[in-house]
Amino acid sequence: MLLIKNVKLVDALGERGPADVLIGEGKILSLDGGEAETVIDGTGLFLAPGFLDLHAHLREPGQEVKEELATGLLAAVRGGYTDLVSMPNTTPPVDTPEAVRALRKKAQALGLARLHPAAALTQGQEGKTLTEAGLLKEAGASLLTDDGHTNEDAGILAAGLLQASAFGLPVAVHAEDASLRRGGVMNDGPLADLLGLPGNPKEAEAARIARDLEVLRYALRRSPTRPYLHIQHLSTKRGLELVQEAKRAGLPVTAEATPHHLTLTEEALKALDPLFKVAPPLRAEEDREALLKGLLDGTLDAVATDHAPHTLAEKEMDLLRAPFGIPSLEVAFPLLYTELHGKRGFPLARLVELFTDGPRRVLGLPPIHLEEGAEASLVLLSPKERPVDPARFASKARYSPWTGWRLGGWPVLTLVEGRIVHEALE
Ligand code: DOR
Repeated sequence: MLLIKNVKLVDALGERGPADVLIGEGKILSLDGGEAETVIDGTGLFLAPGFLDLHAHLREPGQEVKEELATGLLAAVRGGYTDLVSMPNTTPPVDTPEAVRALRKKAQALGLARLHPAAALTQGQEGKTLTEAGLLKEAGASLLTDDGHTNEDAGILAAGLLQASAFGLPVAVHAEDASLRRGGVMNDGPLADLLGLPGNPKEAEAARIARDLEVLRYALRRSPTRPYLHIQHLSTKRGLELVQEAKRAGLPVTAEATPHHLTLTEEALKALDPLFKVAPPLRAEEDREALLKGLLDGTLDAVATDHAPHTLAEKEMDLLRAPFGIPSLEVAFPLLYTELHGKRGFPLARLVELFTDGPRRVLGLPPIHLEEGAEASLVLLSPKERPVDPARFASKARYSPWTGWRLGGWPVLTLVEGRIVHEALE
């Protein structure tokens, strides 16, 4: 038994407490204290349900030089995540039931965060032939996506939505029009022109979201089951408006935004540092402001990391050649806790919802709240500030665009079904 005494509670329902939280048999046994072998003083700390990341690149199989399950899932629990969806753009892509089973088995043996692998929507993520949604679901796939690649063929996406919905699987899309994006390495506009870099226009995202929503309408009209579309790493104001309109019209669509699009803008590229190179690219301040509004008004359902580790050698190439991607599993919550809640008064309960019930809804999982009988997959957070130091990351990607930022809200204890998987109590 574990007792966390005098701790503030926060979940999607609100902030309350302090309470004395008794944990045993993998559950919250009481919020009123009790006898326990291990007692933690929770004074000044707050307890939340464990986070779920809808979007992380853990690079297994085939790209273990960048990340592997052991390092990625350790980074996850250090970031307060008890559950994580891994992206299938590996080598080879995760597009068979065997590959999904192998990932789940390996992750279970590690006993860190629980892995919910995403599988590819099309074979080899080539956009030509659908994968076997039913068999993938049976093997434990959580959603289908060709993330990392764009779905250029609208007909394949429509067929994919129809097939996935028959098995209750969401389809998630990396919404960028490849023919508009072309070789863009940063947001298209005056700054890219000034720096002499090829731009990726915001319209590439908006155009693709508009198309995908029409594809969804078509799939809905043709299907007795309910096709369901999730839009990944939304980065533009116009893209957000389109999702908002669709939600108002009652379409089954959800969307996520990343810590980098919520805290950084294209201005960060001025020094030509590839650490800030990501797809979709960092946008203008008006886009960032729109995303922040979207977090509050419910247009956005989840914060998802898009944790995309590459080797330092790759990220030290010049801006044109370096790969796209920012690692963020270990800093995502502290970043938003500090930059949004601390500096802008963003409600803490809503922020926690965007890391818990919001992403859980996308996967069709029930909400998780801090009450007697609830599963003890939890994170204890400390408001104490310290600077971001990538040398301390468990991820193989030991660099960060946020190096030196002073953040609070660090996970000091993470529990999965009552088991301690991360501990950094002082
Ligand atoms: O920045 C990105 N990195 N965007 C993607 O879509 C893919 C990802 C990766 O796999 O590195």
